[in-house]
Amino acid sequence: MVDYNKIVSRRVAEVPPSGIRKFFDLASEMEDAISLGVGEPDFVTPWNIREAAIYSIERGHTHYTSNHGVIELREYIAEYMDYRFGLTYSPGQIMVTVGASEAIDLALRAIVEPGDEVLVPEPCYVSYMPKVMFNGGVPVPIRMSDDEEFKFTVDNVKPLINERTKAIIVAFPNNPTGAIMTESELKPVAELLQGTDIVAVSDEIYSELTYQGKHASIASLDGMWERTIVINGFSKAFAMTGWRLGYVCAPTELLDTMLKIHQFTMLCAPVMSQAAALEALRSGFENNFADVEKMRREYNRRRRVIVDGFREMGLSCFEPLGAFYAFPCLDSTGMGADRFCEGLLRSQKVACVPSTAFGTSNSFMRCSYATSLDNINEALRRIKCYLQEI
Ligand SMILES: Cc1ncc(COP(=O)(O)O)c(C=O)c1O
Repeated sequence: MVDYNKIVSRRVAEVPPSGIRKFFDLASEMEDAISLGVGEPDFVTPWNIREAAIYSIERGHTHYTSNHGVIELREYIAEYMDYRFGLTYSPGQIMVTVGASEAIDLALRAIVEPGDEVLVPEPCYVSYMPKVMFNGGVPVPIRMSDDEEFKFTVDNVKPLINERTKAIIVAFPNNPTGAIMTESELKPVAELLQGTDIVAVSDEIYSELTYQGKHASIASLDGMWERTIVINGFSKAFAMTGWRLGYVCAPTELLDTMLKIHQFTMLCAPVMSQAAALEALRSGFENNFADVEKMRREYNRRRRVIVDGFREMGLSCFEPLGAFYAFPCLDSTGMGADRFCEGLLRSQKVACVPSTAFGTSNSFMRCSYATSLDNINEALRRIKCYLQEI
C-alpha cells in the first residue's frame, strides 16, 4: 500500500481546490442551465487573428521560439504598453508567457521565499493565494468591503506591512467585484510603497475593460516602475482565453529572474498563439483596436442590464466599473452565498459563484455578464423567481 499522504507535498496539500469548479461541474450536468459562472468572453477570437495562426501553421512555423517570446511580438507589446498605459519597456523587459496565469506564477516564484508575506486583496481572483502558498509564502489578506467600493486604501494596507512583507498584489479591474482604482486612489498606496523594498505585482488582465475612464497602471505612478511587475495578456480583451497567451513586463533584474524560471519550466509560449497575438496587436494598431472597443461596448450594455436587474429585484449591487462581473449582495435574502447559490442552481438552474470562492465573505455572488443578453435576461428572470420562492 502506498501512503500518498506521505508522498504529496504538504504545501500543495494545504491549498484547498478552487471553489469555482464545483459550480461549473454541477451546471454542466444540467439541461437548460444558464451559467453566469464563467470568467471568459463568450465572443470567438476575431477572424483575422485566427487566420494569422492558421497561416503561420501552414507556413510550417511549428518550432520553439526564443524563451523571451518572438521579438516582433515583444516590440508590439512595448508599443502597446506605451500607447495604452504610458508605460515604457524595452522588448528585453518583456516576456511572453503561457497566459497571465504563468506570468503571475513566475512573478511570485521570482520573489517569494518561505515565510515571506504577500499582501493579497480580498475578495480576489482564485489563484493568487495558492501561488503564494506553493512557494512557502504567507498570503495576508487586505480586506476590501462594499462600503469602500472594494478598493484598498493606505489605512487598510499600512498596518499589514512588516519586515517580512515581500510583495503586494494589485488587481484592478478586479475579479470578482468589477472594482477599479483610479490614478488618484492608487497614488497614496504608491507613496507608501516607495520607502520600502516591497514589489507591486499588478495583474492588469482586464485593463481594456473599463467603463468609466481609462485604466491606470500603478507602474505609471512616480517611483513605481522600478518596483512593479506588470502582468497582462490576450485572454480577456481579445477573446483569446484558449490560446493561453500572456506577458509580463518588469525591470531587467526581475525580468531576468522570471526568465530563468520560464526557461527551465515552460521553454516558450506556443508559437502559433504568438503569431495570433502578433496579429491582434498589428491589426489593433491599424484600426485603433476597433474589435476590442466593440466587445467593450457590448459588455457595457450587458453590465447595465444585469446591475439594473439586480437592483430592481431588491438586491443591492455595487456599481462595477471594470472587468465583466457583477457582485450583488445577498444579505437581504437572509441566506449565505453558498446556500443561496446552491439553491439557485438546483431550483432555477442558474450558476453563479458564491463569494466564498474568492475570500472569506459569504455575502455576495459573482455573476459574469460575458454571456448573451438573452441569457442574462433569462437568468435575471429565474433569479427573481428564486427570490420569490425563498
Ligand atoms: C484576474 C485574473 N488574472 C488572470 C487570469 C488568467 O488569465 P489567463 O487566461 O491569461 O491565464 C484571470 C482569468 O480569469 C483573471 O480573472
